[in-house]
Amino acid sequence: MKHRRIIVTKAGGPEVLQVIEEELPEPTAGQVRVKVLAAGVSAYDVMVRSSRLLPPKPPFTPGVDIVGVVDKLGEGVADLEPGQRVAALLGFGNGGYAEYVCVPSEGLVPVSPQLDPAEVVCLIANYLTAHRVMYETAVIENGERILVQGAAGGVGSAILELGRLANLEMVGTASKHNHTIVESLGGTPIDYRSENVVARVREITGGGTDAAFDHIGGFRQLLRSYRSLRKGGRLVWYGVAATKTYGIRIIPYSILTMLLLRLIPDGRKALFASDESEHTQRALPELLDLLSEGKLRPVIAERIPLTEARRAHDLIERGGYAGKFVLTTESEGGGIS
Ligand SMILES: NC(=O)c1ccc[n+]([C@@H]2O[C@H](COP(=O)([O-])OP(=O)(O)OC[C@H]3O[C@@H](n4cnc5c(N)ncnc54)[C@H](OP(=O)(O)O)[C@@H]3O)[C@@H](O)[C@H]2O)c1
Repeated sequence: MKHRRIIVTKAGGPEVLQVIEEELPEPTAGQVRVKVLAAGVSAYDVMVRSSRLLPPKPPFTPGVDIVGVVDKLGEGVADLEPGQRVAALLGFGNGGYAEYVCVPSEGLVPVSPQLDPAEVVCLIANYLTAHRVMYETAVIENGERILVQGAAGGVGSAILELGRLANLEMVGTASKHNHTIVESLGGTPIDYRSENVVARVREITGGGTDAAFDHIGGFRQLLRSYRSLRKGGRLVWYGVAATKTYGIRIIPYSILTMLLLRLIPDGRKALFASDESEHTQRALPELLDLLSEGKLRPVIAERIPLTEARRAHDLIERGGYAGKFVLTTESEGGGIS
């Protein structure tokens, strides 16, 4: 039997994403073959697709998160059964933009079949990242004040949703057209394009926030986030969305900026996002429970058929969306004979 998979043929625009047809992959010892129901699309996928310098090297399949059904067990896998619904955070290059993917069994987390696969896929990279930077890096406490940069995006909206559950007082930067969504998630919006972010944050929070979450990067942006903090506040830098405007040279500048900020003895902290390590296995079941209880409602920008992955990348590059794009295979009936 054959299946479809999307590959990045070379570094470039959305047109370098191509649909190929190939034999189903066979799970090796310790792996599980998963029939994909939903695959997440992220700003990160767009960045690695377009860069000649960042790994992995083409041809590769993008996509770091999937929800699917166990299809075949590799040798030695005893704790899962065919037909079981699972979620996984994937390794780089062995991506989720495919109808079938083989995954090490220890990377799979069981998921209730009652849950919407597209909503569950939002939890994997976005909510896990949000949870990690909030609770492992910034060690947020109930009732604190936070600044969420890029608050309408996939991870930004997840921070707002989790922050609302912890009764945080939240301020979120976003383009004007995304302010309604920031408000609906419990944040006070600031238009980063036209307003003085630092002055507005200080005004709204009465002197600054206890934490700031920044996935934009770059010298001026990180400085703005840092200056929005009150004494004792923590800045967490966890992404480089600014590569969209400035290219990947923004990455070393951002690292250098963070290292310099760490030298300032003013009681504020500049923190790099903590390592993923065992966080997924620990936190995903907790997030799945919150989704089952109706306490989380992930923002889905659009559900797009897998074979139209190029359109999803095109939409991300144009901007103007909120939440996460999800590739779906269900309506297409999975693999092809
Ligand atoms: N460290 C990790 O483990 C980890 C994990 C996941 C993601 N990330 C990183 O996090 C970043 C975001 O990922 P995502 O999937 O959430 O992206 P996304 O959904 O595309 O969101 C990006 C958001 O950034 C906003 N934005 C752009 N420039 C801005 C600026 N100067 N100030 C404030 N907001 C700005 C946009 O807001 P408007 O549309 O409102 O203008 C957009 O909503 C990526 O760089 C990704 O690599 C890191």
